[in-house]
Formats: sequence, C-alpha cells, structure tokens
Amino acid sequence: MNDKTRIWADRRIGVGSFDRMIFGHFIEHFHRQIYGGLFDPGSPFADDRGFRRDVIDAMRELRTPIMRWPGGNFVSDYHWHEAVGPNRVASYNKAWRVAEPNSFGTDEFIAWCREVGCAPYICTNGGNGTAEEMANWVEYCNGPHPTRYANQRRENGHDEPFAVKYWGIGNESYGDWQIGAKTVAEWGPYVAESAKMMRRVDENIVLSAAAVPDSDWTMALLKAAGRHLDLISIHGYWDHISQVHEPADYLTAILNSGSPDRMIAAARSVIGAAGFDGKIRIAFDEWNLRAWHHPNGNHPDKIKARDLSDLPETYTMADALFSAAFLNACLRNCDIVAMANMAPSVNTRGPLFVHAGGIVRRTTFHTLKMYVDHIRERILSTRVEGPEIRGEGASIAQVDALVSADAAGTTVTLVNRDPARPARCEVWLDGEVLTGARDATILSGDSPDAFNSVDRPDAVTPLEAPMRDEQGAYVIPPHALCMLHVPS
Ligand code: AHR
Repeated sequence: MNDKTRIWADRRIGVGSFDRMIFGHFIEHFHRQIYGGLFDPGSPFADDRGFRRDVIDAMRELRTPIMRWPGGNFVSDYHWHEAVGPNRVASYNKAWRVAEPNSFGTDEFIAWCREVGCAPYICTNGGNGTAEEMANWVEYCNGPHPTRYANQRRENGHDEPFAVKYWGIGNESYGDWQIGAKTVAEWGPYVAESAKMMRRVDENIVLSAAAVPDSDWTMALLKAAGRHLDLISIHGYWDHISQVHEPADYLTAILNSGSPDRMIAAARSVIGAAGFDGKIRIAFDEWNLRAWHHPNGNHPDKIKARDLSDLPETYTMADALFSAAFLNACLRNCDIVAMANMAPSVNTRGPLFVHAGGIVRRTTFHTLKMYVDHIRERILSTRVEGPEIRGEGASIAQVDALVSADAAGTTVTLVNRDPARPARCEVWLDGEVLTGARDATILSGDSPDAFNSVDRPDAVTPLEAPMRDEQGAYVIPPHALCMLHVPS
C-alpha cells in the first residue's frame, strides 16, 4: 500500500557509537533560569545552598551528562571574578540589560553540577573579555599550583582543582547582539591567542569556539585557530520569536524539522573544506525549536515581555517531535556531532518549568528522557521511504526513523509527524520484516497542540504498552514519538 512507510536497518551496518554528551544541556543567566529557577534560596524546595532539589532530581532523571554555562549572550559582558569569593556586588549586564546579583557564580555552578552528576562546560567571555581573563578562569578552576587564582579558589574553600574539562571561547561572537562582537578578520586570531593561553594553564582541556555553519566566518576561524580547537560551537533555533511573540503552529514547526540535518551537513562540509575532517567535531551547544522572546530594550515592559516565553501552551507536541527529529539528526551524524545542549534546561522554553509550588515536565522533557533511556549504543544506518506531509510551500517525510542496537537489543524510533493520520510502518531488520507483539513507549498527547501546565502537568506523558503489527506494519498514532523495543 502506498500509504506505508518502509524502514530498513541492518545490525551489521552501523554509523557508529554516539557520545552521550549529545543529551547535554545549557543554562544561562537570563530571565528565571538561574535566579528563581534552579537557584532560589527563599524556596521551600531549596537546600541550604539555595539549589532547588526538585530541579536537581529532574536533571538527574534526565541523566544530564553536561551543562553549558553561564551564557549565551549574557557571557559577552560577564566577568567571572565578580562572582567568586565573599564580597559580591551586583553588576549591570549590558547584554541582557538587567542587574546580575552575582550570587550564583563559578563555585556554585561547580557545586550544582556535582550534585546533578554532570560535567561542567564553561563558556568564556569572547565579547568584552580578554584572553588573559579566560586563562585566569582556567587557572581558578584547574590550577594545581600555589598561584594567584588557584590560591583564590582555595581561599574560597576549594582545595582540590575543579578539573573543568570542557571550555568554550565566546558565544555567537559574530552577532551584533553580543557585547564586543568581532569581525571575521578579528575572530580567528583572537581565538588562537585565547586558546593558546588557556592551554598553557591546562593542556588537557577540550576547547570549542563560536562558529556558524557554512560561512566565511568558520573558514577564517579554522584557518587561524583550528589547530588549537577540538570543537566548533554552533546554535540552532528554528522558530524566531525573539522580537515578536508569535510561536509557529504545529504544522509550520514540524515542516521545518529537517533543518537540523541540513545544518549539520553544512557544518560538516566547512570543517572538511578547512582540512579538519576527523580532528574537529561539532558542539551543537544551543538548540531548541523556539528562540526566546526577549524584545530589545530595557523599558520595564520589554523586560516583562520575557515572561511570555514561560507560557505553558507554547510547548506542545510540535516541540516534543521537533526535539526528537533534532536528536535523530545528531545521532545519525554521531561521527561528527560530539555534543548537543538543549537550551535552556529550566524555564523560558526549557523542558522544565519551575514555579513556586513545584515543577512541570514539559513535553520536551519526555522526549529527552525517552532518548536517554532507550537509545542504544550503536546507531545503525537507517533508510526510510514513505508518504510525505505537506504545508504551505514545504513538505517532509511523514515518518522520521532511527534504529539503534547493542548486545541486549534494538530500539526502533519512529516519529510520526503527521498531525492527523496514523503512520503504518513496515520495519525491515537484518532483511526480515519485524512482526509480533513488541514492548513500546509512546508519547503522543490528545492533540498536536497538547501541552503540560501547572494545572495539568501530566496531559502529555509517555505510555508503555505492547504494540502488535497489523498485516506486517506497526501503526503509529498521529503526532507521536514511538520507540519499539526488540530484545536480542
Ligand atoms: O535567546 C537566547 C540567546 O539565544 C542566547 O543567549 C544566545 O546564545 C542565542 O542567540
């Protein structure tokens, strides 16, 4: 039947193993992500350090492997030394035009990561910061010797080095929305010098630098500084609501869900063209379907408008399925995508919405958790053929599929992007059609626009239910993420 999608995978033909850093996160000093988010000393949910325990538990549930911090745009005007030690004074952050209390700084971030059990990934100030300031930050965190900044860490109560392995140079430093944005000609030499000085302090760090796929920017960066780098940092937001809060509807969002694959392909080709194939990989270290609403200006109305990004109804099955497609793109490109960081983790459009009375796991939380729990070590080369869904001027395959395997079994991940039609999926594994009853995990919701909120926190949650083929095909409900579990 022509309404059927066919999926082929063979356990002898793999793309490779993936790095679990692909399930990473990002948190920024912006709106209610840190203050009033994961750090809220006044909350009954907070521990004696001010860390929200419910947030920590949820981040543990997601087995968070890595957390990128402190920005984002914020970092382009952040000076780390203002937020360590006993005498902290609030500073005005010119990137976000708000007061930064500086009560959550490096020591708190490291303590929080330890509590969650994730690696810290520090993004340095590539805006109005200097190479010297970056290297001093590495010394503060990792310095073993009795030198000025390592001593300062000790005086602040941390004898042992923090051993921060992952460091980034700059955030979107090409954009005039950053403080201290750089030109193409400036960026490469600046990164080279910063990397050199940071590595003189600790030669074992893993280093990324702000890049953009498929452009003169990254070619110039790699020519000047590629020899110092392990990763290029790229960002993707596909629903641009930063100035005007008009979130895209389900169909518009989902028709765009092939974009992450194209972006990775573009970044791959620029890395290859610069001669760094196999040496430099991609850190997709900010990603989310939707950008944040943060209209320009520091008028109280504009700052207040940022609250719109918290509205629960914005984050629906469109977000859940776009996120699944994003993770599929990273996984099928796992030879070159080393890390991905959902941006952000808490509040605005993150998977966790934190409020005075608790937390809400948004639809995307469940997508992340399904991937973390069920994707198996080896990603198989997966071919998909089937019907498309169409919208204004665009079309996309109805089903996105990814098959992964390990010694214990195989997971067949099927994303039915269609808002209304079920998807009939015929799955060929090692040359044979998969049939019979299979354990399955399904995330769907009662409509494409279903969302979780304070009043209805479990409107969208995954169901565990066995699934049986119907005449050789598994029927996936509309707007659903389904994982079939096939034991060995
Ligand atoms: O909207 C949030 C911002 O998006 C981040 O600070 C920045 O890195 C990206 O442009």
